[in-house]
Amino acid sequence: MSAHSDLIARLPKAELHLHIEGSFEPELMMAIAERNRIDIPFKTLEEAKAAYDFSNLQEFLDIYYQGMNVLRTEQDFHDMTWAYLERVRQDNVVHVEMFFDPQAHTERGVPFGVVAEGILAALKRGEAELGITSELIMSFLRHLSEGDGFVLLDESIPWHEHFIGVGLDSSEVGHPPLKFKGLFERCRELGFKLCLHAGEEGPPEYVREALLDIGADRIDHGNRAMEDPALIQVLRDTQTPLTNCPLSNLSLCVLDDLKKSPVKTQLEEGLLVCVNSDDPAYFGGYMNQNYEAITDALDLSADQIIQLARNSFTGSFLSQSQKDLHLSEIDRVIAG
Ligand code: ADE
Ligand code: ZN
Repeated sequence: MSAHSDLIARLPKAELHLHIEGSFEPELMMAIAERNRIDIPFKTLEEAKAAYDFSNLQEFLDIYYQGMNVLRTEQDFHDMTWAYLERVRQDNVVHVEMFFDPQAHTERGVPFGVVAEGILAALKRGEAELGITSELIMSFLRHLSEGDGFVLLDESIPWHEHFIGVGLDSSEVGHPPLKFKGLFERCRELGFKLCLHAGEEGPPEYVREALLDIGADRIDHGNRAMEDPALIQVLRDTQTPLTNCPLSNLSLCVLDDLKKSPVKTQLEEGLLVCVNSDDPAYFGGYMNQNYEAITDALDLSADQIIQLARNSFTGSFLSQSQKDLHLSEIDRVIAG
């Protein structure tokens, strides 16, 4: 429990950096493996959790791609997405802009439509039954080629109306944003928002490329941008949202101590940073646990916590009128 747990719980929040496959809890994974008669390397929950001990991004990704191997049917993708939505309702998450990794499924022979329809069905249900609004962001795996990305873009054409944007994730170092310049240009022409992971493990140059060469609408993580004062100035001037993920940074050893997180400095510098969970099933916490951890580590004030929640809506792809409704709800909660 954090000193500000009550405030954190009461604030409505948007989640802007969440990989739906990273919300796949081992309990559900084991149930779906049994349903689909697939062998998994874990016999018990404890064994699964014991394997979730990473010292860098790649070690995590190896387990993450292995875990999603049991997902085969629309029902599986629905159930995973629904479980996430039910869970974050408890954390007062009222809007989510969710990544999914289609190439991690299509390359196993699962058709794109199975993945998309399963997730979309749960998102629709989430709005109707839980009041959580959502958008979907289709991510390209950066360890694959730009050509592979173009194949995915073509394959996904029948569903384009259902995605607000495209992302870039997976192994960062050695796969700079410029590797995908042509692909993102095409995505921009198609009207997609561009969200790029940059500066998680990769150098500040990757954030610079994402921002200045690609024209990213949002930077996911962006921690290492803080090494470059000129880049900080650009982030401030453009108010480009930074989706920070505290427990992820700690689990993947991007930081050895959350006290070294850039979040407080970013707030003080007037950058549009918000807090997110990234892959909550793997990193030990959903939205409010991320808020609590960063609040305690950096001794954030109530005003700074409120600013983070406000930034989550300001940095979203909601319309201005929808943002205004959420921001006035925050005002109402604080006043109460
Ligand atoms: N895919 C899922 N989580 C990721 C992360 N933290 N960084 C890069 N790719 C990811
Ligand atoms: Zn991520």
